[in-house]
Amino acid sequence: MSNIVLIGFMGSGKTSIGKTLAAQFDKKFIDMDREIELESGRSIRDIFEEEGESYFRDLETDYLERLQGKKNKIISTGGGVILKEENVKLLHHIGTVVFLQANVDHIIRNTSGDTKRPLLQVENVEETIGHMLEEREPKYLKAANVIIQTSNKSIEAITNEIKAIL
Ligand code: S3P
Repeated sequence: MSNIVLIGFMGSGKTSIGKTLAAQFDKKFIDMDREIELESGRSIRDIFEEEGESYFRDLETDYLERLQGKKNKIISTGGGVILKEENVKLLHHIGTVVFLQANVDHIIRNTSGDTKRPLLQVENVEETIGHMLEEREPKYLKAANVIIQTSNKSIEAITNEIKAIL
């Protein structure tokens, strides 16, 4: 089986679903955000603050380039990975792209009180999420090989759905 690449908005469940899938399939789990933080020795929030968003986007592309050729991995990406066309092409070279589609309520619930995600440190978080989702949803849909709804479902139900499809 090829690698599985999870895409989706912040708070859609990529990390928890990715970890569970990896354990069930006996594959290695890679959390791209975490790897980028480890490699750069800085938190994502610090990278955004000190270098800006586009620098972080380049780190994502650089990391994806190095994932090509790897096998047996479940990869959780950052929510903005689909913003660059170049990244979407790389995602398809790496594996089957699974979009975890969550509704706005689910996302707001899962990200409420978050202090780590730089793009959500704004006054009106709900409005910001709404705008970002509107902009990004078509890009997730276009990039996806498989679409799985995650709102109001248990992790077990979601991983079962993914296993049944792949
Ligand atoms: C981002 C999502 C974050 C992280 C960074 C930017 C985004 O990852 O990559 O804060 O642009 O949506 P998660 O989706 O894992 O929260």
